[in-house]
Amino acid sequence: MNILVTGGAGYIGSHTCVALLEAGHSVIVVDNLNNSNLETLEKIKQLTNKDLIFYQMDATNEVAIDKVFSNHEIHGVIHFAGYKAVGESVAKPLAYYQNNLVSTMVLAGACQKYGVHRFVFSSSATVYGDNQVPFIETMNLQPTTNPYGETKAMSEKILTDTSKANPKFSIALLRYFNPVGAHESGLIGEAPNGIPNNLMPFVTQVAKGKREKLYVFGYDYPTVDGTGVRDYIHVMDLAEGHVAALENLTEGVHIYNLGSGKGTSVFELIRAFEEAIGITIPYEIVDRRPGDIAASYADVCKAKRELGWEVKRDIKAMCRDAWNFEENYVEVVESK
Ligand code: NAD
Ligand code: WQD
Repeated sequence: MNILVTGGAGYIGSHTCVALLEAGHSVIVVDNLNNSNLETLEKIKQLTNKDLIFYQMDATNEVAIDKVFSNHEIHGVIHFAGYKAVGESVAKPLAYYQNNLVSTMVLAGACQKYGVHRFVFSSSATVYGDNQVPFIETMNLQPTTNPYGETKAMSEKILTDTSKANPKFSIALLRYFNPVGAHESGLIGEAPNGIPNNLMPFVTQVAKGKREKLYVFGYDYPTVDGTGVRDYIHVMDLAEGHVAALENLTEGVHIYNLGSGKGTSVFELIRAFEEAIGITIPYEIVDRRPGDIAASYADVCKAKRELGWEVKRDIKAMCRDAWNFEENYVEVVESK
């Protein structure tokens, strides 16, 4: 199939391009490079030994997106493009609603116009809010505490209503848990700007000596050891989940949790990293981070049953590959 991948130069998008190309699909990337760079696209080609088509354009630009659809016979869309920083979304709500909602509407509109019915959307476990774990797709969603989460819940609604009006659509709403790690080559991975918000990139930067110590946010949660519990998923497993969704989609809207189904605490992740890499991670316990919940992990039965997909890589592989990328990435930057 010819797949349009918005945000294909980004963290999850780039790994998914690799998985798509390896599965024999053709890829057309639309990315405005707002949070990514051209070098990543070259690395995707290098890794797969395959070419892809790239448009540097904004997914909210209806005219530009229309041109892409008229230039190519597109069989499916995977829509990753968007802003994703929870804290920033509180400070800049309009930018988040504009970018994340308008891009979804523009792409769904183009699909409708050109008869492209396969649509895979990047949603997030954040839509579950502070529910009872494990989170299951049939749960009533809890209000999210930030505009970013709202854009995900609203995009799900927009796509669900679009499907009701156009029953030929086959839509997958993929709720990602906590994507971490990198391609095992170390060539592509996650390179956050500035101080990382997320745990794994912070840990790898401490291991590298870029940061003195990790701050553990809260030690009094009702969890196995008092620290926050999350469902970490290797980004290549997540990427392969997109290929499975695309290839197994049927008409209607289908919601899938993409996670490992296992909860890992902050202390457990630190220990796993230390064991996998052999470097000690100094840490200090500080107050809870506002907006954090105690535990989040997925019920993953539906994706296994309907998509034939489940994770293959464990927490050790996630730590190893995250670290491998951190080392490689620094070399690239320093050699410039
Ligand atoms: P990312 O920032 O690395 O990738 C997003 C890509 O989209 C970037 O390359 C950016 O340049 C591009 N982009 C942003 N706005 C655009 C626009 N208007 N037009 C064209 N390109 C645009 O983020 P990621 O971690 O790869 O996340 C991908 C998607 O998955 C996002 O929608 C995010 O909300 C969602 N998601 C991410 C996580 C996570 O923890 N990383 C978890 C759940 C859901
Ligand atoms: C994991 C655990 C922290 C950093 C966020 C978004 C979510 C999704 C994924 C997009 C928590 C603790 C963290 C640190 C710490 N993104 N922690 N010290 O908060 O589950 O999810 O990213 O959709 O929407 O909210 O992930 O990696 O930030 O935190 O102790 O320096 O690590 O408190 O328990 P989170 P995270």
